[in-house]
Amino acid sequence: MDTKAMYKLSYGLFVCTAVQDQKMNGCIINTAIQVASDPNRISIAVNKANLTHDMVKETGLCNISVLSQDATFGLFKHFGFQTGRTIDKFSPDLLDPLSKELAQKAAVDSSTIYALAANNIPYITLGTNAYFSLKVEQLLDLGSHTLFICEPTAMEVLSDVPSCTYAYYQDNIKSKPQPVDPASVPKGETVWKCRVCGYEYVGEQLPDDFICPICKHGKDDFEQIIR
Ligand SMILES: Cc1cc2nc3c(=O)[nH]c(=O)nc-3n(C[C@H](O)[C@H](O)[C@H](O)COP(=O)(O)O)c2cc1C
Repeated sequence: MDTKAMYKLSYGLFVCTAVQDQKMNGCIINTAIQVASDPNRISIAVNKANLTHDMVKETGLCNISVLSQDATFGLFKHFGFQTGRTIDKFSPDLLDPLSKELAQKAAVDSSTIYALAANNIPYITLGTNAYFSLKVEQLLDLGSHTLFICEPTAMEVLSDVPSCTYAYYQDNIKSKPQPVDPASVPKGETVWKCRVCGYEYVGEQLPDDFICPICKHGKDDFEQIIR
């Protein structure tokens, strides 16, 4: 089986946001799709390790903001490389610099990165071109992920900038690999380091289908370090 075929699947990219006990949080997902038209249904698959997963499961509500080509790598890092279990992703201290970066790239005056939808859940207003408010109708336990099948209760177009596909993100937004400093590598182990986020996997062989647990990039983004 040639697992590289998995890379031929195409995806969009989204920020999935939720609110529980007045805490706002969100994460990047690439798994939002329309799965039925009558009635209109949208599914999202969220990893059980993510805080956003638990919030959507427990409240039955979320918003998804569709990322557009004016999104910055900072936006992906903010929502996709760190967990709301340890930081407040909606704290002004973290969001203010990100808002400025996004407004600059989009060449707009506004530096407001989110707004509240009618369901009182934030959606992202910079680096995005639409949002949907979703109500969970069914859920399916898929092992690593839960598949949420949802009814859209609101939706709005935010800009005409084209949507950011996973391929566009890989080719144009994702940071370029940084060479590892050999002096920083201790002896005795084989380590595979993710060039995107720095995650280290220890082991002689990195499995072909390995996906970085932090930033979800594949084996091709790992560099082998012999220690
Ligand atoms: C490009 C990209 C795509 C991602 N796609 C998904 C996805 O489809 N489902 C998912 O659960 N996590 C996905 N992630 C990972 C989460 O965004 C990430 O684990 C996040 O830190 C979870 O945050 P949370 O714990 O605050 O919810 C993706 C990350 C990136 C950078």
